[in-house]
Amino acid sequence: MTLTSQHGFNYFNAIDNLLDASHIGFVHSNHVGGYDGRTDSAFLEVQETLWGATSVHTRRQSGKAGQTQFGMPNIFRVRMFPLAPGFPPREVIFWFVPVDDENYQRFFVEAIRMPAEKIETFLAARREVVAKQTFRPKDLAEAVVGGRMRREDVNPETTNIVNFVDDVAQLAQGRIHDRSTEHLGSSDVGMVLVRRIWLRELAALRDQRPLTLWRYDPSLPLVQSDE
Ligand SMILES: [Fe+2]
Repeated sequence: MTLTSQHGFNYFNAIDNLLDASHIGFVHSNHVGGYDGRTDSAFLEVQETLWGATSVHTRRQSGKAGQTQFGMPNIFRVRMFPLAPGFPPREVIFWFVPVDDENYQRFFVEAIRMPAEKIETFLAARREVVAKQTFRPKDLAEAVVGGRMRREDVNPETTNIVNFVDDVAQLAQGRIHDRSTEHLGSSDVGMVLVRRIWLRELAALRDQRPLTLWRYDPSLPLVQSDE
């Protein structure tokens, strides 16, 4: 299933978010598959791969671990939250594409493994969930960050709530985030690694040195920490 969504801020705000698994315990704490980051925050281990970078995030209290994959320059693979309670987890691949400095568009493909005889029932249930999502996350996030609406007043059934809360967190940092005032910590190691890779590659491009030949590897593991 191929899908798309629009977002009203610089696409690197979203790239910064990709290997930041620590935000799940805060921004997504009350979603299906979420957890409380105040009591069970994740310890992140990251490393460069042939495709980009990977994050293994192990929750400090429960010991549950998840793993995600970042692909240079703008791709992300994740086994993520179900769309709604009772739904199976999804494997999703995203492309984050700049439209201009203050807008980007996300394209993604969702894959869900299930027996063939369950597919029609699942698609009907999915259509029902999506039909109720009549408010764009982008518009709701603009209203919340602009002070015209409270985050708590958003009905989670009438929008894509995962996109909405991510957009609030990322838009609130500024359409173009001012990185000169940051105080990064251990939960930012994934973001730091991705930025270092980007800077290294851009420096090579500037100096006309060879760029890394990134290779997609479908065997890179994806783990949703609650399975
Ligand atoms: Fe998120």
